[in-house]
Amino acid sequence: MTQTLIRARLLSFHREPQTPDDTGAATYIEDGALLIEGGTIRAMGEARDVTAPDAKLIDHRPHLLMPGFIDTHLHFPQTQVIASWAAELLDWLNDYTFPEETRYADPALCDAMASAFLDRLTDHGTTTAVAYASVHASSAEALFAEAFKRDMRLITGKVMMDRNAPDGLCDTPQSSYDDSKALIARWHGVGRLGYAITPRFAITSTPAQMDAAQALAAEHPDCHIQTHLSENHAEIALSCQLYPEAKDYTDIYARYGLLRGNSLMGHCIHLADREIGALAEAGAKPVFCPTSNLFLGSGLFNDAKLRAGGLTNAIATDIGGGTSYSLLQTLAEGYKVLQLQGQRLHPYRAFHWITRGNAVALGMADRIGTLDPGTEADFVVLNASATLAMAQRMDRARGLVDELFTLQVMGDDRAVVQTYVAGQHRKPA
Ligand code: GUN
Ligand code: ZN
Repeated sequence: MTQTLIRARLLSFHREPQTPDDTGAATYIEDGALLIEGGTIRAMGEARDVTAPDAKLIDHRPHLLMPGFIDTHLHFPQTQVIASWAAELLDWLNDYTFPEETRYADPALCDAMASAFLDRLTDHGTTTAVAYASVHASSAEALFAEAFKRDMRLITGKVMMDRNAPDGLCDTPQSSYDDSKALIARWHGVGRLGYAITPRFAITSTPAQMDAAQALAAEHPDCHIQTHLSENHAEIALSCQLYPEAKDYTDIYARYGLLRGNSLMGHCIHLADREIGALAEAGAKPVFCPTSNLFLGSGLFNDAKLRAGGLTNAIATDIGGGTSYSLLQTLAEGYKVLQLQGQRLHPYRAFHWITRGNAVALGMADRIGTLDPGTEADFVVLNASATLAMAQRMDRARGLVDELFTLQVMGDDRAVVQTYVAGQHRKPA
């Protein structure tokens, strides 16, 4: 099999950095080389040590190469919902998002948008995504098929929703079970694909549908589960009204067996202490969606409090409540959200978070999120001087931390020189 040797500066984390100068958490190599073969990283190290005379050479110097970004929560059928004007979450869902998602009943639209969606991800340096499809099985089918074609790591699931939405967007408990089951049989574990059981949120699922989600979860312990939790005050009040027997919003999901180590809980902004304890006990993963939380005015995610409660937080774009596909822009907004609460998101922790950190949250750090030999060859090449404004800032940079912080605050898809998925470049070379 042909080998490719890539020259660049290399950065990869092997644990979460604890302080702004915790350089021991990362491997940084100024004159680095990465050897890849058939979608796998074979070697990573100093250029003088990693040699392969017959390998094809790609020279990305002086740019910075790191593992591909991992987006742990976004919505495939909301590609054309971004930047929709609404007062808050429930208006935004009813006025824009639900009507738009009804269009995904059309398999031809699903096919066309699946390709565009995955192109947008890789344009922005994202190599793994955990995406909600629409309620239509055909939307998940189209996204799986397109990701399979690209050998891209993707987790998705058809949304289960059977009330409080337009007719064209409601399934039934039985059809949601049957469609999810068929998609799991067809795609889960195939290539780099995985299925996420996806009850949208408590408001759009009847108790009968939650029973169906519980059955699916019990039958497929290795499938992820994804849903929304505690995003907005009106959402919380309506959820608790619809499930009066539950102690609180988190308890609704707990009662249906939906909290476990591979559960991804979008938002988690307004949790009570009891809920934090329940999530931590189950090992469920809160997902911080800063651009969305700011855009919809949902609130400030309290990262430090959840971490102190024993939780491992993921971070994500939440397109199309989120306003950018870029995990760099997500870090920029995340930095500001934490600043407002007297918390700091230093660049080492930031870049760990969107690479290895999210891989850990997904339970996949053995396969993605680092440049370790034996892992999958998903990586990005970044240029912190990609725009004139960035270049001017970089003229005054004092080292790697300044470079990373410039990318974290000012970066977007323009800073992504190249994105490699399973060893293949996905932007024009
Ligand atoms: N809660 C239920 N559905 C959604 C969604 O599509 N986006 C966001 N941000 N929150 C939700
Ligand atoms: Zn969401």
